[in-house]
Amino acid sequence: MALQSKLPSVGTTIFTVMSTLAQEHQAINLSQGFPDFAMDPRLIDAVDQAMREGANQYTHMNGHPLLRERIAGKVGHLYGAGVDPQTEITVTPGATYAIYTSLTCILRPGDEVIVFEPAYDSYIPTIEVNGATAVRVPLQFPHYSIDWDLVKKAITPRTRMILLNTPHNPTGSVWTDADFRMLETLVEGTDILLMSDEVYEHITFDGYRHPSILKYPVLRARAFACFSFGKAYHCTGWKIGYCIAPPALTTEFRKVHQFNCFSTNTPAQLGLARYLENREAYESLPAFFQRKRDLFLGLMKDSPFRWLDSKGSYFVLGSYGHFSQEPDTDFAIRLTKEYGVAVIPVSVFYQDGKDDKVVRFCFAKEDKTLEEAARRLTSV
Ligand SMILES: Cc1ncc(COP(=O)(O)O)c(C=O)c1O
Repeated sequence: MALQSKLPSVGTTIFTVMSTLAQEHQAINLSQGFPDFAMDPRLIDAVDQAMREGANQYTHMNGHPLLRERIAGKVGHLYGAGVDPQTEITVTPGATYAIYTSLTCILRPGDEVIVFEPAYDSYIPTIEVNGATAVRVPLQFPHYSIDWDLVKKAITPRTRMILLNTPHNPTGSVWTDADFRMLETLVEGTDILLMSDEVYEHITFDGYRHPSILKYPVLRARAFACFSFGKAYHCTGWKIGYCIAPPALTTEFRKVHQFNCFSTNTPAQLGLARYLENREAYESLPAFFQRKRDLFLGLMKDSPFRWLDSKGSYFVLGSYGHFSQEPDTDFAIRLTKEYGVAVIPVSVFYQDGKDDKVVRFCFAKEDKTLEEAARRLTSV
């Protein structure tokens, strides 16, 4: 039987490849973006209680009503956005699913979607599986800022969507208020929609606070904003997130969601809803992760890497071009095999493999993991 792949150029993701290599070589895994520390036992207790109370059957297709209310309360408090839990919030099995659904309910063959590169690896396959075309706009190395003239030039009558991600994986760069204002100017008067990936909303440093797209009424009116509880509460394995979008977009989103997973894990939703009563749960996160970033950079000060600015996310990029000209994929494999620390080469976040000789380190790890990684890496 002849099978024509819909995604012929997609292989196994680099995250799986590097994690497998890390296991084979008993390397410390700073490659994949997940914490190795325990989550808050109060959240575990809240989910346990929900299960014991019998919250074990399908809940509402759009999300547990109490969780949607809590989400609305949170975004009202943080971003001053009035969001209707009935018509604008849908709880999903993770942010990747929310991103997939946002794109799938809109895109048609022939549509173009503007994507900033380096890009989280799900975006382009999701565009392509829907028959649309990714139009790639590079972020400007080494600060990974946006060249708005390039964005302007990339817009055509076929542009259906622009995807944005702030704080940004893999670079740790963030959007400024000026970036959001530029985007407003570009899209006003067009039919261009937006997908804003904000999974690292709570992980920001040095006094910078995340300006969600929900703060900008002109943008919000045309945006799917996607979030992840896994990233926020150290439970990436729960795969639970949500999408906020205006009613007309949410209606389309739910048409796809209804027949894809229908509803998301009930006890996790109820547990999270009760846990979110406590604002401290998310208000403590910037300081918590900034300490991790600063600890890691302090420990690595005698290593040969040059560190690029990380303003948010779990990640910091280390530049090595001044002491090695190896391709970053070879360099990452060598770090894993010879020094016992797995990292991610940034070229894999570009379709054309652009190699600026930088690798991504995830510092969302136990202090002792970071200490041991630094000990191993100072001899590079
Ligand atoms: C930018 C970005 N978006 C989305 C996700 C996935 O979130 P979730 O695990 O909730 O699907 C990740 C995870 O690495 C990410 O880095």
